[in-house]
Amino acid sequence: MDSQKRKIRVCVIDDEEALVGVLKEELAREGFEVAAALNGSDGIKLLEHKPFDVCLLDLNMPGLNGLDVLGKAAQQAIPTEFIVLTACATVQTAVESIRLGAYDYLTKPCNLDRIVFLIKKAHEKRCMRQESLILKRMTEARGARIATASKAMLQVIKEAEKVAGTEAPVLILGESGTGKEVMAEFIHANSSRSEGPFIVFNSAAIQENLFESELFGYEKGAFTGANSSKEGLFELADGGTLFLDEIGEVPQQMQAKLLRAIEKGTFYKVGGTKEIRVDIRVLSATNKDLPGMAKGNAFRDDLYYRLSSITLTLPPLRERREDIKPIVEELLARLPAGYTKSIDDAALELMARHDWPGNIRELQNVVNRAAILSDSDRIGPGDLPPEFKDGPVNQARPAQSGGLLSLCDLEREHIIRVLGHTAGQKKKAAGILGIDVKTLYRKLKQYGIS
Ligand SMILES: Nc1ncnc2c1ncn2[C@@H]1O[C@H](COP(=O)(O)OP(=O)(O)OP(=O)(O)O)[C@@H](O)[C@H]1O
Ligand SMILES: [Mg+2]
Repeated sequence: MDSQKRKIRVCVIDDEEALVGVLKEELAREGFEVAAALNGSDGIKLLEHKPFDVCLLDLNMPGLNGLDVLGKAAQQAIPTEFIVLTACATVQTAVESIRLGAYDYLTKPCNLDRIVFLIKKAHEKRCMRQESLILKRMTEARGARIATASKAMLQVIKEAEKVAGTEAPVLILGESGTGKEVMAEFIHANSSRSEGPFIVFNSAAIQENLFESELFGYEKGAFTGANSSKEGLFELADGGTLFLDEIGEVPQQMQAKLLRAIEKGTFYKVGGTKEIRVDIRVLSATNKDLPGMAKGNAFRDDLYYRLSSITLTLPPLRERREDIKPIVEELLARLPAGYTKSIDDAALELMARHDWPGNIRELQNVVNRAAILSDSDRIGPGDLPPEFKDGPVNQARPAQSGGLLSLCDLEREHIIRVLGHTAGQKKKAAGILGIDVKTLYRKLKQYGIS
């Protein structure tokens, strides 16, 4: 995150000019970015002007004193962490300043090492607070709206609403691009955990040897390069929902560990000896035939049963063509201002004849492309990819022979086609394409397919 790369921003508010001068110099030497104010009201202005990570705040100042500044900062929700400096340390003022939100206090004369140590600790706290805020906003921004006009989908949504309020694990099945992640967000948003984090773990996007540390975190020194300890996704999801996407890709030896952690709600960090307890709800999704895999030996059946106490299956778009119109309208409404906002019936008709191997994700790409290409306010048949105009298209789309596609377009189309062929299985698709899965993910992102 940006705040970890840039210098820690420190603000000093103290009326002792000589002390401020020394602090500015020494803290800058320690690698901090430092600014200072010589009284409370200038201090508040400084804090309002720029987001400081940490503020060293004198308690005894003429005019606005330190406690006043703390009060005002709390009132204005200034996100800075405060370390209070006081000459006459009485427990009373220290307690009062902590009550008003200060991180800690120091008595003057202060030791520079101690100041530096406390600034770093306070900054860590600020980063953690910021991270949880960002996660919360992400969840809010997700909205989790599912546009539909299909009976089958409405039935699934009704079931999802019913189970959202329970703590039961839900397994979401469906082809690639059918809206499994949106459904998981919907369940989270309609659950009592909606204020908590919604954390996604994509099993297909992670190297096998990193699974455990990603899920459970690690302790400092657990392996080469583990210079500090790190929280895993289980811990980040505490109080909220953990969404295990592409669950069919979890390697065998991780399946047992995952089952234990989900069943007990406890786990150990890699290299850790302390058992950590979390309160999470688990949702999972896959485009694979997980029940079939569990019947064979490709997936542990005990984990399968644990994850699938409720199973929701999302129908492919070609089985709910009545959804094309409402989804297109929803997708158009999501476009930034200045883009085409409507679509004509002839274009919708062409869309209804397409087979959509990439489902809603493919529909989204077609709509975005058309909205960008369209010269008018209304998308027409001419704004759709060339193959839409060649009549009904079944399963695999024919390669373009008109020579009008750029290499990039061709690559994008081909990837979608191969994904359709492999029913969305990315590992298999990457194999056919002759690239590794990571490269495929990069390309999906680049072309807005994923
Ligand atoms: N009902 C809907 N209305 C509008 N947009 C939708 C709807 N369902 C899905 N989408 C959009 O379609 C895209 C694909 O959805 P999502 O990522 O949930 O699918 P998925 O099944 O998880 O796909 P994959 O298997 O490829 O991971 C997303 O951009 C999502 O916002
Ligand atoms: Mg998904």
